[in-house]
Amino acid sequence: MKAVCIYSYGGPGVLVYQEMPCPRPGPGEVLIRVHAAGINPIDWKVREGHLQAMLHHTLPLVLGWDLSGQVEIVGSGVLRLNVGDGVFSRPDTSRDGAYAEFIVVRETEVALKPQSIDHVHAAALPLAGLAAWQALFDTAHLGAGQAVLIHAAAGSVGLLAVQLAKRTGAHVIAVSSARDHRLLRRLGADEVVDYQAAPFEQVTGPVDVVLDTLGGDVQARSWKLIKKGGILVSLVDPPSAEIAASHGVRQAWVRSQPNATQLAELAKLVDAGHLAATVGKILPLCDAARGHQLGELGHTRGKIVLRVV
Ligand SMILES: NC(=O)c1ccc[n+]([C@@H]2O[C@H](COP(=O)([O-])OP(=O)(O)OC[C@H]3O[C@@H](n4cnc5c(N)ncnc54)[C@H](OP(=O)(O)O)[C@@H]3O)[C@@H](O)[C@H]2O)c1
Repeated sequence: MKAVCIYSYGGPGVLVYQEMPCPRPGPGEVLIRVHAAGINPIDWKVREGHLQAMLHHTLPLVLGWDLSGQVEIVGSGVLRLNVGDGVFSRPDTSRDGAYAEFIVVRETEVALKPQSIDHVHAAALPLAGLAAWQALFDTAHLGAGQAVLIHAAAGSVGLLAVQLAKRTGAHVIAVSSARDHRLLRRLGADEVVDYQAAPFEQVTGPVDVVLDTLGGDVQARSWKLIKKGGILVSLVDPPSAEIAASHGVRQAWVRSQPNATQLAELAKLVDAGHLAATVGKILPLCDAARGHQLGELGHTRGKIVLRVV
């Protein structure tokens, strides 16, 4: 099969497009013919070698942990999936990824893809969708009537988080540059904040929940916006428990996990018209390096997706 892998850590130039042996599924696993693979920031963090201590990869490694495709072979003991099923998945980031014509994935990491969208759009959903879900609902327990502030709201996670938060009946404040405000309003944002026009903390708050997708200075400036007893949930930098306590608020760091049940919930929402996947750019698999260069600029609107089939 054709795949994009790395033999060493470094810049986009270490991505190699080449022939590789096709993997075989073991018990409880399926082989998926990948139709489209989403590009996420974790891909270039792994490529640069920043996550070696956490993920213990061995090289060569196929990157990419977001995909939509079709089940090709079903391993022994797999009960829910059949050959030919259209599926989407956020596989285990410690194993080979989806920048390839085929990938082996555990059954527990796969759900039937939304029927109403194509593979390219379905590949934009799993990783960012699960991150948003697990941060907002499993961790912050966001509910109706609460106010949530979402940073980088026009990014892959943010665009899905805005829609999911709105669906629960929360008051949604979306922070982005002005060019994305119309899109964010259409997706359900009640308030939009232009982070380039003024410091966000001077024009908004107080809120029950902050979803931090930027870390660093943005995280540091967010504490004062949170109501007593509220929570800051970060997907990037583990927040300080001491700082949280000094503000009378809670904190959490979320490392999102594969979850077939939650993927199925996301698919249901898409097919019911309540959740839209936003694709910013589509590239062929052999152009993965270009996808990384664009993504790493940090100003993507929607997902960069590699079309494999
Ligand atoms: N822990 C986990 O499980 C997990 C899961 C998924 C993602 N993440 C992490 O979450 C982060 C976001 O991921 P993503 O996929 O959403 O990234 P992304 O799609 O690349 O985010 C790009 C967006 O960030 C916006 N942005 C950049 N600087 C901003 C600022 N100062 N204020 C407001 N918006 C700003 C950009 O808007 P402008 O163009 O307007 O600047 C752009 O819309 C990454 O670090 C990723 O690794 C973690």
